[in-house]
Amino acid sequence: MKKVIIIGATSGIGRALAILYIQNNWLVGVTGRRRELLDSLQLEFPANVITECFDVTKEDNIECIKNLTQQLGGLDLLIYNSGYGEPSPGLDWEIDKTTTAINVQGFVEIVNFTFNYFVLEGKGHIAATSSIAGNRGNSFAPAYSASKAFMSNYMEGLYLKAVRLKLPIYITDIQPGFVQTKMAKAERQFWVATTGKAATQIYTAINRKKRIAYITKRWWLVAKIMRALPMFLYRKIG
Ligand SMILES: NC(=O)c1ccc[n+]([C@@H]2O[C@H](COP(=O)([O-])OP(=O)(O)OC[C@H]3O[C@@H](n4cnc5c(N)ncnc54)[C@H](OP(=O)(O)O)[C@@H]3O)[C@@H](O)[C@H]2O)c1
Repeated sequence: MKKVIIIGATSGIGRALAILYIQNNWLVGVTGRRRELLDSLQLEFPANVITECFDVTKEDNIECIKNLTQQLGGLDLLIYNSGYGEPSPGLDWEIDKTTTAINVQGFVEIVNFTFNYFVLEGKGHIAATSSIAGNRGNSFAPAYSASKAFMSNYMEGLYLKAVRLKLPIYITDIQPGFVQTKMAKAERQFWVATTGKAATQIYTAINRKKRIAYITKRWWLVAKIMRALPMFLYRKIG
C-alpha cells in the first residue's frame, strides 16, 4: 500500500484529495486543526486513514510528521495543502502575519524536512497547493499572492536540487484558479471548479509527476496572461 500525508485535509480540496487517495487504496495520513473532521474521515475509512491533529504555526510540525510517517510505515508522497488568505484592504498586520505563518513558515519547515527525508530514502514526491495568484502581486491580498509566489519559487528550487542530486524525487506545484471552497473569496469569480474536479485533476497531475499543475487545466492561460501583461495594463486589475 502506498503512503501519502496530506497537510490540511479537514475540508475543501484537501479532504476531496484524501478521499480520492483512499478510493485508490492508499494509506493516507491526514492533518489539520479540526479534530472532529479528522475523526470523521477516520471513522468512515478506518483501514485507510491515520490522523494527526496539529496547527502548522506551532512548534511541533516535525515531531508530528515523524510520528505520522512512523505510523504509516514510511512515506511515498507529501502534499502541503494547508493555506490561509483574507482580503486585506487596510493592509492588516494580523492577516499578513497569519498568512505568512501558514503559507510560508509552516510550508517551508515541513517541506524542507520532507525533502531531506526523501534524500535519505533515495526517492519520494512532494506536492504543494500554491495558487494562480502567486504569478503576480495584487493589491487585494498582498501577503497571500506573495506567500504563494514563495511556495512556487521554493518548489522550483527543490525541483532543481533533485535534478542536481540525480535522485528520483519529484516536485509538483499545484496552482488552482478558483475552487468552490470557503477560501475562494474574490467578488467576481469565473471557471470555478468543484472540489471533486480539482482533486481529480491534482491526483492525475501528481501521478504523471507534473512539475506544475494548473487546476483546472485552462487556468494555464490565465497564468501566462498574468505574467505577460505589462505593468501599465496590469495595474488596472492587479
Ligand atoms: N479555493 C480556492 O479557490 C483556492 C485557489 C487557489 C489556491 N487555493 C489553496 O488551496 C488550499 C486548500 O484550500 P481550500 O480552498 O480547500 O480551503 P479550506 O477548505 O479552507 O482548506 C484549508 C485547509 O488548510 C488547513 N489549515 C488552515 N490553517 C491551518 C493551520 N494553522 N494549521 C494546519 N492546517 C491549517 C485547514 O484545516 P484546519 O482548519 O482544520 O486546520 C484546511 O484543511 C489552500 O492552500 C489555498 O490557499 C485555494
